[in-house]
Amino acid sequence: MNSRPLNVGLIGLGTVGSQVAERMVSWGPQLSRRAGVELCLKRVLVRDPAKRRSIEISSDLLTSKPSDLLDDPAIEVLIEVAGGDEPIRSYIEQAIRAGKHVITANKVVMAKHGPELLDQAAERNVDVYFEAAVGGGIPLISTFRMDLQANRIERVSAVINGTTNYVLGRMSSAGISMHDAVREAQDAGYAEADPTDDVEGFDATYKLAILASIAYEIKVRPAEIYREGINGIEPVDFRYARELGYAIKLIAHTQRHPGRVEARVHPAMISLDHPLARVEGAENAVFVEGDLVGQVLLVGQGAGGRPTASAVVGDLIDLARSIRRGVQSRPSFSFDDRIGVIPIGEVKTRAYYRIRVDDKAGVLAAIGQVFAEEGVSISSFIQKDAWSHDQTAELVVLTHPSLDASLQKARERMAGLEAVRTVSSFLRVF
Ligand SMILES: NC(=O)c1ccc[n+]([C@@H]2O[C@H](COP(=O)([O-])OP(=O)(O)OC[C@H]3O[C@@H](n4cnc5c(N)ncnc54)[C@H](OP(=O)(O)O)[C@@H]3O)[C@@H](O)[C@H]2O)c1
Repeated sequence: MNSRPLNVGLIGLGTVGSQVAERMVSWGPQLSRRAGVELCLKRVLVRDPAKRRSIEISSDLLTSKPSDLLDDPAIEVLIEVAGGDEPIRSYIEQAIRAGKHVITANKVVMAKHGPELLDQAAERNVDVYFEAAVGGGIPLISTFRMDLQANRIERVSAVINGTTNYVLGRMSSAGISMHDAVREAQDAGYAEADPTDDVEGFDATYKLAILASIAYEIKVRPAEIYREGINGIEPVDFRYARELGYAIKLIAHTQRHPGRVEARVHPAMISLDHPLARVEGAENAVFVEGDLVGQVLLVGQGAGGRPTASAVVGDLIDLARSIRRGVQSRPSFSFDDRIGVIPIGEVKTRAYYRIRVDDKAGVLAAIGQVFAEEGVSISSFIQKDAWSHDQTAELVVLTHPSLDASLQKARERMAGLEAVRTVSSFLRVF
């Protein structure tokens, strides 16, 4: 073992940080043996050092002054598990400038600024590890960076947000509203008090931006990714989906096309035969297709203090080994700037519409005409429930693959038809 310890600074001692610190302290000798060097937790930056902590930690380690970590030349590695954009991005940048290696679980920073931070790190000859930023404990980044290096990645499809998967699962199995399912998820600790980031698809979009960037080695920004949340889906949609052989999931999908890539996050009907349809509760799953390896499915706990700490501390061991051996064991990234993201309107997909119409003659013909004029071909047209009290009926339409722009146009035009009360649901079929 190398005689000089490797000093580590930690930013954040919350859900993830406390598990990282706990592992480093309680499993110190094992981790150090694997790393080939003694790993020493030297300083921990928090907002409030006086706060009660869930683990036992010496108060001498705690500080609220960023400079105690960033300006300490003895600290060679900075682990950032605080979260959010600023001031954390600046801390990471400062650490890189000071020649420190960085390990982060921060999807927001990596999705928005990852390529720049990785470029800066390469210039300073240090590394940025971010396994925990996507998929918590599931080894994704290292899988792309190491094990799938020989492949051209063709597509990645994922259920990558545990909160929405839990919510959609409860709506499907218990027939409850989204509002009630979100409340249940909050009570079970799967959803934040403010669930916007998850429910609106932002969290999945950050993760897809990172996955797409490393899968294709291009810069994919969250703002370039088409995003739609799970609002608007009703329990009846799960019933119809099941009857038609589908589940409903929030899908993050990216696919390579000549000169461009597709990248989108939205709820979708997915065939019950697809492995992603079977991802339950707060689990995450990532389905990768490489030209050499074929299909690979990675499944596991996408969040939680312990699974996420598994990824962070795993990064630390790998990094420590490289630092002390003086060799970079992982290839660095180089991002191609010339490849852009295809606008959603140009993507080809199938769609499901649930339409409430007046129960009278001629309605089907009018709807059929809209689809025909938009060049969308229908694969099934089913009349579901009819209500005599207001003479309305519910129609379900499934289409063949069409341009998304045409599907949207058909939706708009149908909503304007006299006999159509409302287009209650529109879901892409995956
Ligand atoms: N939780 C998960 O399951 C999970 C999974 C994957 C990735 N992540 C990522 O891991 C990171 C941490 O998540 P978490 O759930 O552990 O968060 P958390 O429980 O809210 O903990 C955040 C910690 O960071 C400290 N902190 C926040 N802002 C700070 C600042 N400006 N300066 C100094 N310290 C600051 C807080 O200090 P105080 O304690 O003094 O308030 C707290 O200890 C986030 O990027 C998150 O996206 C989390």
